Amino acid sequence: MISTVQQLRRRIRNRAEEALRPTVPERPPGPRGVDLVKLHLDFSRDQIGCLRSIAEKYGRVANFWLGGFNTYLITEPDLIEDVLLRKSSLFQKDKLTFELADVLGQGLLTSQDPVWKRQRKLISPALRRKQIAHYADKMVTRTEEMLDGWRDGEVRPLHREVMEATLRIVVDTLFDLEFEEDIDEVASSLDAVVEYFHEQGHTLWRFMPEPLPTPMRGKVAEAASRLDEVIYGLIDKRREDDTEGDDLLHHLLKAVDDEGNPMTNRQLRDEVLTMFLAGHETTALAIVYAWVQIGENPEVEQRFREEIEEVLGDRRAVVEDLEKLPYTRAVIEETLRLYPPAWILGREAREDVELGEYTIPAGSTVLLPQCLVHRDERYFQEPDEFRPERWLNGLADELPRFAYFPFGGGRRVCIGNYFAMMEAMLVVATMAQRVELRSAMTEELQVHPSITLRPKGSVDMRIRLRPPRS
Ligand code: HEM
Repeated sequence: MISTVQQLRRRIRNRAEEALRPTVPERPPGPRGVDLVKLHLDFSRDQIGCLRSIAEKYGRVANFWLGGFNTYLITEPDLIEDVLLRKSSLFQKDKLTFELADVLGQGLLTSQDPVWKRQRKLISPALRRKQIAHYADKMVTRTEEMLDGWRDGEVRPLHREVMEATLRIVVDTLFDLEFEEDIDEVASSLDAVVEYFHEQGHTLWRFMPEPLPTPMRGKVAEAASRLDEVIYGLIDKRREDDTEGDDLLHHLLKAVDDEGNPMTNRQLRDEVLTMFLAGHETTALAIVYAWVQIGENPEVEQRFREEIEEVLGDRRAVVEDLEKLPYTRAVIEETLRLYPPAWILGREAREDVELGEYTIPAGSTVLLPQCLVHRDERYFQEPDEFRPERWLNGLADELPRFAYFPFGGGRRVCIGNYFAMMEAMLVVATMAQRVELRSAMTEELQVHPSITLRPKGSVDMRIRLRPPRS
């Protein structure tokens, strides 16, 4: 009898303890029901606004269905570090990246282990800081060519102009092409490919399992085959003529893996195309947004120009100048904070993954939005203000590692990050020596996020030529 009463008491106590124990939520909070329908309606119109309101409302991990995918939006640097670094082997790239593989094949951006690991090891030496230093001259030359065509007082579409210059820079550094026709052919075909992915990237199709066929698909296949023709032609020519070159293609041709095997023509083609696609538009955007911000912030402009004047005066910038231009570097860093060209990263969980207090089920999509984390007021005072000074006193060392990650991080960190910083700094410095730019846009600049964070409409800027100093 006594034992039955004790048993009963114990059972009641256990029940009470169970009821009081904090329950582990199975799913993180997120929009459901009507809110979810609204999200799908609003998403294509304002992707960043939608994601921001979700993060504000539901916190550092939000879960919702997006375009048929179980999606986790993560805005906490420590958890982003889990995905990109500590637990990176449990994730793979997301669906959009795999779609890019239709065109890019198995280049660095799209490949997975073991192909990726081998290729990354082969290619990394060609993009190290020391190895790319001599490209500085080509970067300055192509910028000067762009500026040579500009006249005082005229209005120029800055995004278009800079895109063309950065494309020429990437073509020059990859191939050292002599013929303008080849460059034009590469440029126009590449443009068609990029356009297709932008078309895909700014709509919900980005997140859909099987995108519907669109007229762009035909166009992209045509452009990709034109690009193939040019690229394979250049590779063949280079294989026949074994004179030493100093462009990236030369280094890629000479690279061998641990077993002494070089890349096949197909691998070379995939890597070259990947560099084109990953390399030129992102850097162009950094340069364009930097100029829009410089034009709108007179104090920044003054300090920036003082530095250029003091370090460069009228002479051509060289690679050794980069370390003497901390403010110019800060201008680019601050631009990449406010306008990260790669504005969001996507990953897919390969298996169930513990992330903070949650379990992310295998197959779910994880979104890591630089565009939101970079404006988190816990890390950046007055986060929407353009303040390059914030980078001058060691802020980068104080921040959590993934509070600022314009180039991604972990093993898949951007392989072109030195190239990009060097290019952006040299191009803006060279431009500052010769021109002043003011917005001639009728409305404030707006962004149009798709694969990259493009501007909406033309970025029209009025040119004022600066007289040579002496
Ligand atoms: C401001 C300019 C640039 C930005 C913001 C940028 C951003 C990024 C980011 C965020 C990633 C990581 C993607 C992910 O983890 O899913 C990435 C990867 C990559 N980027 Fe860049 N990038 C820039 C310039 C360049 C340049 C100039 C090149 C080539 C010369 C380049 C080539 C690549 C490649 C090949 C990858 C794939 C690396 C791998 O997975 O091993 N990028 N980039």
